[in-house]
Amino acid sequence: MLYSLMHKLPLLQMFAGRESLLWQVMIIYNNEQYIGKQLAANLFNRSGVFVLPAYTLLTAEHVRLISQHQIRLEAHDVVQLDNAVYYQLAVDECTAAMERIFEQLRYTKSRRLPMIELRGEVIPFIQQVGEKNDFFGILAALQSKDDYTYRHNVAVGILSTLLGRWLKLRPEELSSLTIAATLHDIGKVMIPSDILAKTEELTAEERELLKKHTTYGYEMIRDTVGTSHMQALVALQHHERMDGSGYPFGVQGHRITDFSKIVAVTDIFHAMTSDRYHRPAAPLYEVLRQMENDVFGKLDPYICRVFINKLMQSMIGNEVLLTDGRTGKIVMILAHDPLHPLVNIDEDFIDLSRHRDLGIVRVLPQ
Ligand SMILES: [Fe+2]
Repeated sequence: MLYSLMHKLPLLQMFAGRESLLWQVMIIYNNEQYIGKQLAANLFNRSGVFVLPAYTLLTAEHVRLISQHQIRLEAHDVVQLDNAVYYQLAVDECTAAMERIFEQLRYTKSRRLPMIELRGEVIPFIQQVGEKNDFFGILAALQSKDDYTYRHNVAVGILSTLLGRWLKLRPEELSSLTIAATLHDIGKVMIPSDILAKTEELTAEERELLKKHTTYGYEMIRDTVGTSHMQALVALQHHERMDGSGYPFGVQGHRITDFSKIVAVTDIFHAMTSDRYHRPAAPLYEVLRQMENDVFGKLDPYICRVFINKLMQSMIGNEVLLTDGRTGKIVMILAHDPLHPLVNIDEDFIDLSRHRDLGIVRVLPQ
């Protein structure tokens, strides 16, 4: 409590002499519960001064502004968004914030990360979305627009939070992982933008330069106050592979941290399921099949299997198109062979693990 009050001291001083201290504290604590909700209407203070427009998705910064105006938010001031709208708004806001952070770092040539902005404007939303179990709803919001470089950081943050929960990480480990995953590609601020956005094949020289985002990211996180060594290692190691075929050092699995192995899985998954500058997105099912193959040698087998299993579990009830042109509904996932589930077609139940000639082409939109 004392720490919390000291933390809010600068804000409290702004109210000094106007309202009782207790009232000021109550306003701040009350308003914080509305972070992540959307304003129902334009917001004005008691003197009629315009504060924020309707439909603003409230961040910690907005709540600070509202509290400075001595407005005590109530339930009817905010609206509960439809999940799909909320995911999209939250991911878009975080993506825009990441773009601002990248540009600020590029422009100022600073190598110190703005952790206050990240912890206030980005991480809480990534954690909120990563706590939901609606995998396909979330995935739709993560689809790349023309801002892949920035959206990808947010996507890997959210997917790693989900995967960390599925792996039953402790709460403090999970929040550390969320930050590490969101910052995994931060070293790309040191890479020229034209290389990041290049639509043709990179030259060997450009590829080598791009690989340096791992060591740049490691150094930036290491040199920033308020981050951990484990988080810096994720930036360094997320392209390392179990068999030593990765970069920058080609180390083998036993020298790669668990956080880096988790981020390797979500990084590959989001990169392959997104439209990128140089190639279109691969169908979800193809990506999962590729990842299952990569279990042998490239990715951590346990982490990768948990990801594929849980993802397939969330597909139960979805319509799928089969390789013979028929459509059916997934009714059961087999733990030992999750990519070949039991499918219901009309009156029939087909066990795809026994019909290896048949496969799923894609999941149909619901
Ligand atoms: Fe990367």
